[in-house]
Amino acid sequence: MAIERTLSIIKPDATKRNLTGKINAKFEEAGLTIVAQKRIQLSKAQAGTFYAVHKERPFYDELCEFMASAPVVVQVLEGEGAIAKNREVMGATNPADAEPGTIRAEFAESVGENSVHGSDAPETAAEEIAFFFAGLEIVG
Ligand code: CMP
Repeated sequence: MAIERTLSIIKPDATKRNLTGKINAKFEEAGLTIVAQKRIQLSKAQAGTFYAVHKERPFYDELCEFMASAPVVVQVLEGEGAIAKNREVMGATNPADAEPGTIRAEFAESVGENSVHGSDAPETAAEEIAFFFAGLEIVG
C-alpha cells in the first residue's frame, strides 16, 4: 500500500480536556507518524471556509461556532494507507456507532463534538493539508 498523508484536527472538545497527548498516542500506536502539527485558534469564518462543503447542512452554523470555540491542533499524519487508517483509528462520526477502542468511542462527547476530524479521500487530504500547512512545515 502507498505511503499517504492525511489532515487531522484535534477539535475543541478534546483540546479543552487536555486530550492531545492521548489522541496522538492512538495515532502513533496505529503506525501513523505526525509529520506536522500546530495548535491554532480558528475564527468562525475560517472554520466556515474549511467546512464549506457542509454549508447547506442544518448543523453548519453550530459546527463553525464549535470549531472556533477553543484552540484546535491541526496535524499531518503520514503512513501506509494513512487516510483509511486514520479513519479507522478515529471511529464513526457519531460516537454511539464507533468501535470500542477508537478515539471517538473513548473520547467524543456527541456527533457534533466528536474530538477529531480526518480527511476522507486523497483529493480532500491534499486540499485540507494545503489549507493549514506550507510545504516547508511538513517534515516526513
Ligand atoms: P467531521 O468528520 O469533522 O466532518 C464534519 C463534521 O460535522 C463532523 O465531523 C461532525 O463534527 C459534524 N456533524 C456531522 N453530523 C452532525 C450532526 N448531525 N449534528 C451536528 N454536527 C454534525
